[in-house]
Amino acid sequence: MNNILLGVTGGIAAYKAVDLARRLTLLGFRVKVVMSENATRLVGPATFRAVTSNPVALSLFADGGAPMEHIDLAREADVVVVAPATANIIAKMAHGLADDLLSTTLLATRAPVVLAPAMNREMWSHPATVSNLETLRERGVRVVGPESGSLACGEEGPGRMSEPETIVEEVLAALGTNSLLAGVPVLVTAGGTREAIDPVRFIGNRSSGKMGYAMAAVAARMGARVQLVSGPSALECPGGVERVTVETAEEMREEVVERAPACRAVVMAAAVADFMPVKAHGEKIKRGSAEKLVLELVRTPDILAELSGIKPQGQVLVGFAAETGELLQRARAKMREKKVDMLVANDVTHPGSGFDSDYNRAVLLFADGREVELDLMPKAELAAVIWREVSALLDISGR
Ligand code: CTP
Repeated sequence: MNNILLGVTGGIAAYKAVDLARRLTLLGFRVKVVMSENATRLVGPATFRAVTSNPVALSLFADGGAPMEHIDLAREADVVVVAPATANIIAKMAHGLADDLLSTTLLATRAPVVLAPAMNREMWSHPATVSNLETLRERGVRVVGPESGSLACGEEGPGRMSEPETIVEEVLAALGTNSLLAGVPVLVTAGGTREAIDPVRFIGNRSSGKMGYAMAAVAARMGARVQLVSGPSALECPGGVERVTVETAEEMREEVVERAPACRAVVMAAAVADFMPVKAHGEKIKRGSAEKLVLELVRTPDILAELSGIKPQGQVLVGFAAETGELLQRARAKMREKKVDMLVANDVTHPGSGFDSDYNRAVLLFADGREVELDLMPKAELAAVIWREVSALLDISGR
């Protein structure tokens, strides 16, 4: 897991750093926040603690903090991002000043640094700031933004901190993780399907779609061209992803079978209904005086099995297995039946993972018999692990 150190300094845009911390955490990074004293006047450390699930570092001499915390923070970071970066922290960095925890950590780190400046436009265009930024850029610091627009001081001009999504892109670029699947067309399915009983009722399942959406989002971040075929879901379509929403297993089958042949990797993360009513009633079924109602169900098409039959050479096909016990035995059997290249098996009854959770614990099974048991981790991080494996399989099959 990559460690990201987020430095927050005292600009009004500090509130936007909360969203940045949340997005980075959802992508599976371990995010530690260091706040300058002024930043704590604008946003409470408790907010960052809540979104990152990590303590927030505030002072070089805090009670209970490690004596060499700045050195530990500096060493463990894979990327340091300062957002918002005030004119003051930029000046301190340019001159090597170290008078608080954040500036000391910045002087001690050798990790790539991303700055997202935010300040009044006069401060931004002041020759001191211009020259400080030039110095930092020469040293390899990545500067994102600022953007032009209305500023907190009521003026118009350059000085607004870039949006969190843009800063995330820069952080990923600094980590070098966004090129693994560059240009590769992939298809992901997500969410549960719904099979109509009548115009107001359906057979559904507990899938939230979070795992499939994480798969789509992470693939897009790694540069893939992503199509997402999703059952009904309240989740936002991730940036850079083309989404098609479907309702039933049959509709999902149609979209997937049409799109899959042109894709290099297909990931079936959707919880497809196994059975559907033989016929959906045209009108709402009335309760009347009936004590019992018998629904007759019929199998839905097995999309994954069909995909393995029409798989073009070199395509990597990934299935998921949601089990409620005897995980490995059932997953091994499913692997054989469905003839996939990789199966992601998870026990959905496990506390703290599975449906609607942001976390998942999975075992990866491969066609060559290899099995990798993974720890409980955020779904976005699991998605990154899966895509790294897919990318390795694509390399073997020759991209
Ligand atoms: N799947 C599919 N079409 C179906 C049912 C499942 O493509 N009609 C896919 C799922 O998207 C998943 C994999 O098959 O990638 C396994 O789904 P799962 O529900 O775990 O297994 P089933 O095949 O439905 O078997 P069972 O319900 O008996 O465990």
